[in-house]
Amino acid sequence: MHNIKAITNDLYWVGANDRRISLFESVYPVPLGISYNSYLLKDDKTVLLDTVDKSVNHQFFENIEYVLDGRSLDYLIINHMEPDHCAEIQTIVSKYPQVKIVCNAKTQAMIGQFFDFNLPENQWHIVKEGDTLDTGHHTLTFVFAPMVHWPEVMVTYDTVDKILFSADAFGSFGAIDGNIFADEVDFDHRYMDEARRYYTNIVGKYGAQVQALLKKASNIDINMICPLHGYVWRKDLNIFIEKYTKWSAYEPEIQSVLVVYASVYGGTQNAAEILAGKLADKGVKDIKMFDVSTVHPSYIVSEAFKYSHIVFASTTYNMGIFVNMETLLHDITAHNLQNRKVAIIENGSWAPFSGNLMTEMISKWKNTEIIGNRVQLKSAVKGINAQELETLAQEIVNTL
Ligand code: FEO
Repeated sequence: MHNIKAITNDLYWVGANDRRISLFESVYPVPLGISYNSYLLKDDKTVLLDTVDKSVNHQFFENIEYVLDGRSLDYLIINHMEPDHCAEIQTIVSKYPQVKIVCNAKTQAMIGQFFDFNLPENQWHIVKEGDTLDTGHHTLTFVFAPMVHWPEVMVTYDTVDKILFSADAFGSFGAIDGNIFADEVDFDHRYMDEARRYYTNIVGKYGAQVQALLKKASNIDINMICPLHGYVWRKDLNIFIEKYTKWSAYEPEIQSVLVVYASVYGGTQNAAEILAGKLADKGVKDIKMFDVSTVHPSYIVSEAFKYSHIVFASTTYNMGIFVNMETLLHDITAHNLQNRKVAIIENGSWAPFSGNLMTEMISKWKNTEIIGNRVQLKSAVKGINAQELETLAQEIVNTL
């Protein structure tokens, strides 16, 4: 049975949710599920904007057939050629053989990489930046957004209703729970953390390209944002745009300390806990701690984008950094985090090397300063370490 949502009087959400998926992109846990958003504009011409992941194709086609109500599909616009949105292109072409595919040249090349169908030349509508498509009462224009999140990405803007179909931008992890608009749910409490985790892990590396898209978007009047994942924004757009502005500039959201530790027998954890306690005693609020062995790195990457200061505490393992901490640091480095203040605690019962190795990795982060004197444990926290932790806490507080 169909399950659609009216966005306006002629625009419909025809996507679907997946709450059984364990790892989105085979990497990211999505405990709240994920939505694959597709939109159908029912103008003089009928226009489908993107498709969905193959896991939800049954619901998707029921939705399309219901909204079309016997009409044919005239256009399929492909904003993003990643398979979580484009898996059903070939089926669309076989069900609606007269459909014209609207995409850019890079997307057309990628379609050839993913699929094996032939479409006559006159059914390809290849667009360039700023081109328009008249569908009757609406005029759609295309704005290129390379590397948000793949090189072929573009966004589509309805110049009449002032709706931005933003591809992966302004999306979120989390299925759509009945409501379709962000203002109909307590987005800040229920979804903002997942929106941040989605942004930082999926697009976080491409801050400069996101800033370029935000600059283009600032020149157009936007009433509504329809992303490819998560809720549709029609009110208080500035709340989300401001978050994107911060995240893409690698600006912390709060001045406080994130403490991340890797501990095998408890010594390093003990040092991290003592430091966090001392920071609290000195008035620091909202300190957050994670054990890298129990929390998926995507959550810590997300928090690293939020916090101004990060403490990494790790034991030495096989003469290297403890494996989960090393993975996390690789992950944060790959996502291009910048503009942070970092402090380090190392442990090693006979050869404490993790501090030097962590410093080496963190020194690649732009505009990031390692602050305070590194605290070195040899197995467990001793009296001297307690004093060093007190000093480190004060050094961190001095820079907040
Ligand atoms: Fe939701 Fe880059 O795909």
